[in-house]
Amino acid sequence: MPKKKVRPTREKPGHRPGESLRVLISDARLHRRIRQLAREIRRDFPKDELHLIGVLKGSVFFLADLARELGGEVSFDFIGVSSYGSGTDSTGEVRLTKDLDVSIDSRTVIIVEDILDTGLTLKYLLHVFEERKPKHLRTIVLLDKVERRIADVKADYTGFPIPNEFVVGYGLDFDQRYRNLPTVCILQFSSKKKTKSQ
Ligand code: IMP
Repeated sequence: MPKKKVRPTREKPGHRPGESLRVLISDARLHRRIRQLAREIRRDFPKDELHLIGVLKGSVFFLADLARELGGEVSFDFIGVSSYGSGTDSTGEVRLTKDLDVSIDSRTVIIVEDILDTGLTLKYLLHVFEERKPKHLRTIVLLDKVERRIADVKADYTGFPIPNEFVVGYGLDFDQRYRNLPTVCILQFSSKKKTKSQ
């Protein structure tokens, strides 16, 4: 029988005409940093059961990798919020689209976000969760666009401060595409491709 050809899956990002990608953070750097962050968190909470709350959908790979680097007891849940339309600019509005499945009362909770941009999403989530009386409430973000901040909010743990560029990959999307890239890339538009937010 002829041997089946196996196509490499990590080779092509599948970008469209008018869009180009430049790697900002390699997968090796991502994983090194996530290991360090996990150690920091465990140092701060050596005995606690950590309850991670991933903000859908951008945080899924980050949460999955972080959870596997954290020793000890770990559980997780997800919350859905919408703040972006179909373009690259925020609408400025935050809305809950999916609530938690289990209570966070008296638990050590860590909100896991992909990127801190204006800070409006994280500020909103902190407000929502503080009212639910967790034992501790902390935040971790993989990327921080410091320049773009509007809300007065700071993450307790930060992976990488980044410049004011639109990034995709490792969970982050543009119009739901590029989430599956293993690296964080800057997305550039060579034509009038960039669309306005809804
Ligand atoms: P914030 O409320 O403005 O801080 O925005 C947070 C959310 O906006 C993130 O969870 C992302 O979903 C989205 N976002 C902000 N900047 C980017 C980006 O560069 N690429 C992809 N999504 C982004």
